Amino acid sequence: MLELGIKTLLAYLLGSVIGSLLIGRLRGGVDIRTMGSGNAGGTNALRTQGAGFAIQVMIIDVGKGWLAAGVLPSLSLPLIGIDPTIGRQWLAVACASAVVVGHVYPLWYEFRGGKGAATLVGVVMGLKPVALIPAVLTWLLILIVSGFVGLATMLAVASFCIYVGVIGGEASGALLAFGITMLVFVCYTHRSNIERMRAGTENRAHRLWLFRP
Ligand code: G3P
Repeated sequence: MLELGIKTLLAYLLGSVIGSLLIGRLRGGVDIRTMGSGNAGGTNALRTQGAGFAIQVMIIDVGKGWLAAGVLPSLSLPLIGIDPTIGRQWLAVACASAVVVGHVYPLWYEFRGGKGAATLVGVVMGLKPVALIPAVLTWLLILIVSGFVGLATMLAVASFCIYVGVIGGEASGALLAFGITMLVFVCYTHRSNIERMRAGTENRAHRLWLFRP
């Protein structure tokens, strides 16, 4: 249990490192939570700061998801080692959940972070890379058809659930439980996008490059 507790905590702290806020601080104190949609994520970074800034944000946010879900669970830490009683996939899923929660509620940034989309990409890379294929295809399709990044993200997570539920394979129980939990969570983190879609005021992707406050 010690390994589970410490690695889950480390994953949460890693998730609390928010790409947009870190890069913003290095660039003289830019806080994208005060502009655009107010979200500290890659889409709002692109919308308000441009492609160069957004690419750096994505590298950090995707990278930490991959580290927490794909690398941290199998690391043998000093004094703790590897606990043979803990299922590796359940440990990976716990670390994956913690890094996403850290991104949304970061300890270092007043618990006001992003919506978890880029971090989830990294997490899926770490947990089940092949499941990125249906998720990315769904994301692109919905984005092209609707123009809504938030909607594309929610449906991409739904496609991950369908993939692991239908195709199954190794550790599909843990992955399906994780996927369903994350689907509920990203719908919650995207509640403002849902509201804007209902009100007809949600930004469409083709306007991202034109929308600079
Ligand atoms: O799901 C992607 C998320 O980053 C949407 O962000 O800024 O359009 O609310 P935003």
